[in-house]
Amino acid sequence: MPTPDTSTTAQHQDFDLEVVSGAWPTDISGEVVFSAPLLSGGLPYGIFDFGGIIRLSLTPGTHGAPEDRFAWRARAIETPSKRVFDAMPAAFSPSPVGYTSPFGPPNSSNTAPLPWGGRLFTTWDAGRPVEVHPGTLEYVAEVGHVDSWGGSSMYGDTVLPFLFSSAHPVADPDRDGLWTTKLEPVMTDTFGMAPSVVWWDRKGTEVKWWPLEDIVFPGSTHTVGQTRDWLILCDSGNFRADVGEMLGGERTVTVGHDAPVWLVRKDDLLARPSGTPVAPICFTVAPPNGHFYARYDDRDGISVVWEGMDLMDLGLYLRPDDVDIHGNPIKPADVGLYNMAMSPETITEIVFDPDTGRVVERGRCREDWTINLQLSAMDWSTEGMSAPTLHHVVYQGCRPSRISRRAATLYEGRIDLAEVSEETPGYLATFERGSMELRCRYEYADTSELVTSPTFAPRNVGSDADASSYAGSHPGGHDGYVVQPVLSDNGFRVDLFDAADVGAGPIATLRGTQQQCVPLMLHSAGMPTADALVDAERLRFSDELTPEKLAALDDDQRRVVARVAEELDG
Ligand SMILES: [Fe+2]
Repeated sequence: MPTPDTSTTAQHQDFDLEVVSGAWPTDISGEVVFSAPLLSGGLPYGIFDFGGIIRLSLTPGTHGAPEDRFAWRARAIETPSKRVFDAMPAAFSPSPVGYTSPFGPPNSSNTAPLPWGGRLFTTWDAGRPVEVHPGTLEYVAEVGHVDSWGGSSMYGDTVLPFLFSSAHPVADPDRDGLWTTKLEPVMTDTFGMAPSVVWWDRKGTEVKWWPLEDIVFPGSTHTVGQTRDWLILCDSGNFRADVGEMLGGERTVTVGHDAPVWLVRKDDLLARPSGTPVAPICFTVAPPNGHFYARYDDRDGISVVWEGMDLMDLGLYLRPDDVDIHGNPIKPADVGLYNMAMSPETITEIVFDPDTGRVVERGRCREDWTINLQLSAMDWSTEGMSAPTLHHVVYQGCRPSRISRRAATLYEGRIDLAEVSEETPGYLATFERGSMELRCRYEYADTSELVTSPTFAPRNVGSDADASSYAGSHPGGHDGYVVQPVLSDNGFRVDLFDAADVGAGPIATLRGTQQQCVPLMLHSAGMPTADALVDAERLRFSDELTPEKLAALDDDQRRVVARVAEELDG
């Protein structure tokens, strides 16, 4: 079966879920938050659309749900960008990489939620992190005055700054700050990106940034990884800008076979003034990846799980005139979604020694069934990241109806059509950290369903007063639960697994009381319940409005900006 139509046709809404099978445990708590692009249909490629934030409460009877029900709450994120767009949509022109406008390109913040110390942020690759209220889910502020970021990445000095960044900044538990990136386009022989590391200590409205000396690369920095002493950056490799396509031509750029990795010592960065270049230590990994996760404890080397995206090209999306690899027209509901994986994917764990340059592969898994490696669940507590035990990964299975012939032609010679011609089940799989040995897996045999981002929920969070606020009683990823959402045209559901044995199947399942369907969502994250907004100094939209920026607008546009500034400052 093709992927669910309701991935694009369902609307985000508030509803309540109920247990329809199994027993919901009493030692689970907190919230799971999700990011999603709102898929308005206004863009040719939906993953660039404005962001929403969704929260599932793991404790029944909270956040407005009746005693035995679980609250599902969804909100559009009302950023300055979204407010300006809503006030004057005609000023925004759609392109294959989102909107452009005289105000600048909007910050869609639609990719990943980032809970951090009682605060909640959302992120994407082409904008600053955005803070939302953990209780009401309303927009609060953007992170870091654009001037402290060193100015916009491109498009000049616009009211809405363009900051090409990372969808996965990482919070540093020892230094109490956030590490992320900024990319700036440069023209050398070809079009490339010059990366910088960005640091925000969350005390004020300024960030610091340090360029990586002499580094230019063709992709993006989707993930930022860290150990106690090191930052790990990598060319995500699965999304490459195609200037020809942006100018209206066909896409000709393809993803590579490997990707550069850069290691930088955190204290080397923090010791130098903002804007001062730093030379990274360079490695290479194969295949390219979107996500990678390092063990925080680096005393025995820098050990990193690389979730490979072997032939997953996120620059490719499905157009109305596309046919799939079997010659069938693309379903209308799939138009504007990404082209799915064109081969099975490889997961590896690799140890880097920055002193000797030595790289040791500790484990690898690539099988016929490891296709459409989607997202993963792990224990994000400091204790869990320091000594991880289990890594849970969702594979959506092969979906040939979501691979266009155009994509197969572009990848001729690299794609093996026999490998992707049949649908295969999805899986929730558990790997041992260190060896990447498959511990167990659970099969999602119904190929009309689509498993999406799983989340690890530790058992008995907060029960140990000496532990970090996200830690359960036995950190690492084995003691707790995996929350597994499943998209289906027959109604959305949430399967809950014992993290120690996902192979045994769900121990409980939730469904909407009216069999509600839920559209496409991207990343998820777990967090302890927090309903109040932490007191902090925050950036205001009006803080960045200069006479020069406003002078580039006409009178009507200036009136829109003034109104949005008044709304937000009020
Ligand atoms: Fe991601």
